[in-house]
Amino acid sequence: MKNLECLVYISRCTLDQAALEAQLEDLVAVSAFRNKSAQITGVLVHENGYFFQMLEGAPAALDLLMIHLHFDERHEDIRVVAREKIPTKNAVSWAMVTPPLDHPLRRDLRTLASNPPSSVQPWRRLLLEMIPENA
Ligand SMILES: Cc1cc2nc3c(=O)[nH]c(=O)nc-3n(C[C@H](O)[C@H](O)[C@H](O)COP(=O)(O)O)c2cc1C
Repeated sequence: MKNLECLVYISRCTLDQAALEAQLEDLVAVSAFRNKSAQITGVLVHENGYFFQMLEGAPAALDLLMIHLHFDERHEDIRVVAREKIPTKNAVSWAMVTPPLDHPLRRDLRTLASNPPSSVQPWRRLLLEMIPENA
C-alpha cells in the first residue's frame, strides 16, 4: 500500500466496568474482522476510563472508520491527537488487538496521555510494545 497514515485518538468510554468487561473482547473481534477487509491494522487500549486507539491504513479507510466511530455510543469526546503519513505499516499479524489488562506499560500510557504528543511515533512505539509477540 503506497498511501499510508497512522492515526491515534483518545476517547472517553461511556460503558461501566461490567459492560466494558462483557463487551471488550467482542468489540476487538468485530473490529479485527472489519479492519481486515479495510486493510487497517491497529491497537486498542482501555485505560482508566479512556480508549486509546492507534490505526494504520489508507487515509480514505481511516476517514470512513472514524465516521463509524463517531456514531458509536460506547465512547464520546473522540480526540485525534496525532495523524501522519507513514512509510510502511508495522509487519503485524493482527487487524486489531488489545494488550493484557495487567501490562506494566499501562502506567507509561497514562504518563503519555497526561501530555499527549502530537506526533504518532511515541504512541506507536509504546502501544506496539504493549502487544505480546504472539498476538
Ligand atoms: C473504542 C472503539 C474502537 C473501535 N474500533 C473499531 C475498529 O478498529 N474497526 C471497526 O471496524 N470498528 C471499530 N469499532 C466499532 C465501530 O464503532 C462500529 O461499531 C463498527 O464499525 C460497526 O459499525 P456499524 O454498526 O455502523 O456497522 C470500535 C468501537 C469502539 C467503541
